[in-house]
Amino acid sequence: MNHRTMTEIEELELTPLTQPSLEMKESWVLKPTIAKKKKKFSVACISSNRKLLLWLGGVLCVSCIIAMTLSKTLPHDHYNVPPLTKDNSTIAIPVALKFFNAQISGKLPEGNNVSWQGDSCLNDGKFPGSSYPHLAGGYYDAGGSIKSNFPMSFSMTMLSWSVIEYSTKYQVAGELNHVKGLIKWGTDYLLNNFNSSSDTVFEMVSQIGMTIGSELPNDNYCWMRPEDIN
Ligand SMILES: *[C@@H]1O[C@H](CO)[C@@H](O)[C@H](O)[C@H]1NC(C)=O
Ligand SMILES: *[C@@H]1O[C@H](CO)[C@@H](O)[C@H](O)[C@H]1NC(C)=O
Ligand SMILES: *[C@@H]1O[C@H](CO)[C@@H](O)[C@H](O)[C@H]1NC(C)=O
Repeated sequence: MNHRTMTEIEELELTPLTQPSLEMKESWVLKPTIAKKKKKFSVACISSNRKLLLWLGGVLCVSCIIAMTLSKTLPHDHYNVPPLTKDNSTIAIPVALKFFNAQISGKLPEGNNVSWQGDSCLNDGKFPGSSYPHLAGGYYDAGGSIKSNFPMSFSMTMLSWSVIEYSTKYQVAGELNHVKGLIKWGTDYLLNNFNSSSDTVFEMVSQIGMTIGSELPNDNYCWMRPEDIN
């Protein structure tokens, strides 16, 4: 802060608030006069133009009747729902969603459709004295067996947002229930990563599996199949 602004602030603070400025006083005097003038003008206008008033009333009535008729006959399409046509998203959506099926951790849901995959990491969080014993589930982050909750919650947010914005596209592709199931799979897991019955959340699990900075072996270098981890 330079010296100039400092002085300005000091001056502002020293200006007594109880002393109204000249402009303020003028505005008190001027305001009612302006309002009165406006009022006078409109009253004069109405009284000298009775015919105009009647005519305006008539126009208003006719407009109301037209508006009511239109609102009853036109389709009530407020949201501009896109037409139910198949395009390339019909091909892309199932393929994109299959990525999530391939990343599923835990006891596989029925019809997961990834032939080479089995149940994996069923004991996540299950150790003596664990505060969060139900951490099986969720999604693996990338090619490894780490479950990272920040990327996972971001992905679930984006998937949910895409369903809100483009549910028709999912519907046309026949994938709406599929994507909802995938979102639920992720959010059900995330709900087990903190104490949801407590009023205040002071801690939560952020990751399963170790990376850089840990004394334990880095899971990114573990080439074991998740199905073989217990
Ligand atoms: C779908 O993609 C193909 C190949 O990229 C393109 O030729 C075609 O015009 C696209 N179809 C639609 C409906 O956008
Ligand atoms: C699995 O495949 C079947 C048949 O192709 C399909 O109907 C079903 O929606 C698929 N399920 C998932 C979760 O992709
Ligand atoms: C979760 O919060 C509730 C309510 O505060 C508390 O009674 C319970 O012990 C907490 N559970 C764990 C595992 O910390």
